[in-house]
Amino acid sequence: MKTTAKVRVGVVGAGGGAGSGMVRTVLSSEETTLVAVAEVAEEKRKRLLAELTVPVYQDYRELLAREDIDLVVNSTPNFVHAEVAIAALNSGKYVFSEKPMGMNPAEISAILQAERESGRVCQINFEMRYSLMSRRIREIIEAGEIGEVMNIHFVHNCGGVGFVKKPGDWRGDPAMVGGYFIEEGCHRLDLFRYYMGLDPESVLAVPAPNLRGPDGWHRGYREPACTLCFFPGGKLAQLTTIQHLGVHPVETPGMEPELGHEYGIKVVGSEGGIRADFWRSFIQIVYFAGREGNTRLKRTESYQGLALNSLHHDSRGFFMDFVKRIRKAHPPFMTAADSARTMAVVFACESSLLSGQPVPVDYTFIPG
Ligand SMILES: NC(=O)c1ccc[n+]([C@@H]2O[C@H](COP(=O)([O-])OP(=O)(O)OC[C@H]3O[C@@H](n4cnc5c(N)ncnc54)[C@H](O)[C@@H]3O)[C@@H](O)[C@H]2O)c1
Repeated sequence: MKTTAKVRVGVVGAGGGAGSGMVRTVLSSEETTLVAVAEVAEEKRKRLLAELTVPVYQDYRELLAREDIDLVVNSTPNFVHAEVAIAALNSGKYVFSEKPMGMNPAEISAILQAERESGRVCQINFEMRYSLMSRRIREIIEAGEIGEVMNIHFVHNCGGVGFVKKPGDWRGDPAMVGGYFIEEGCHRLDLFRYYMGLDPESVLAVPAPNLRGPDGWHRGYREPACTLCFFPGGKLAQLTTIQHLGVHPVETPGMEPELGHEYGIKVVGSEGGIRADFWRSFIQIVYFAGREGNTRLKRTESYQGLALNSLHHDSRGFFMDFVKRIRKAHPPFMTAADSARTMAVVFACESSLLSGQPVPVDYTFIPG
């Protein structure tokens, strides 16, 4: 839709954490205008009515029926994503939908089909690959600085004091949240594909002991301690995580204060490597020197002083990038089919976590 006009936006699930952020983003940009929002929860609707000057619908289908909306932001819980995304595409809107793309392969194929038939574009909010430090890592790889990527190791421990299960929270219900990889690990699996430039052939996910007990912080899913993604040519990516037991002391400068959140990655190539700590905001690039292969520091890039969200969680930047591309009729930063391939890995990991066995990744539900 090549245009110089503002992109007209409707936000579904506007009263939640993610939705409120998107409403603020839309209101604060000169390239977008907020036309309407939808929210099922009555209390949140009242708050939205008090705060906003646009219509607030209970039923998102009323929002979709409006012809003065170009782009729908889908910030509903996981189990609602596919329904809203498909209906929005069918009503001729562009879609910016929260991750996960859907709960199962059937939902993903239905979104891809709706996208094809509508001629519109659906971008899934895998914002981590767009965020500054993640993109920088990819640039370093693409520039050939570390040779061929052979191995990736991600450590992600959220910490947990901040995650208290609230009554009625959809994240506490397995049928609504889907699983650890569907809700949380999908970001890391997406970065594995992004950095390897390849799709894994199979995966193995090993469960973590449930140290906090069934009524601790958690969300409604089993957690993996270790997840392996096997890529062609013997290349390997590994995710280590015990979500609720972050071990970075909360006193560490720059840390998300209440969590003890630990978030780092190592990418090992044939000629060197990358070490990045997203909370401490640095990337180190090393090279293997001489016949002995000593590891030497090439340089350290520091991103301290920049907003932490822009470094690895830049939903705002990713959304605005999508808006700019819609206005120029350019393809999205990340296509829905690409997101679908990450979801194929996600579903294989969920299945492996339950069976304890390696599982081949099935990409056959994704056309092309
Ligand atoms: N990309 C990221 O890094 C990131 C970060 C946070 C959340 N998320 C995702 O965003 C989504 C929302 O998360 P959240 O933390 O904001 O959850 P939330 O529960 O705070 O918000 C969801 C909102 O959607 C509303 N809702 C539910 N069904 C609806 C429907 N049919 N129509 C209209 N509104 C409806 C709920 O009442 C609630 O206000 C989740 O899928 C989550 O995984 C992604």
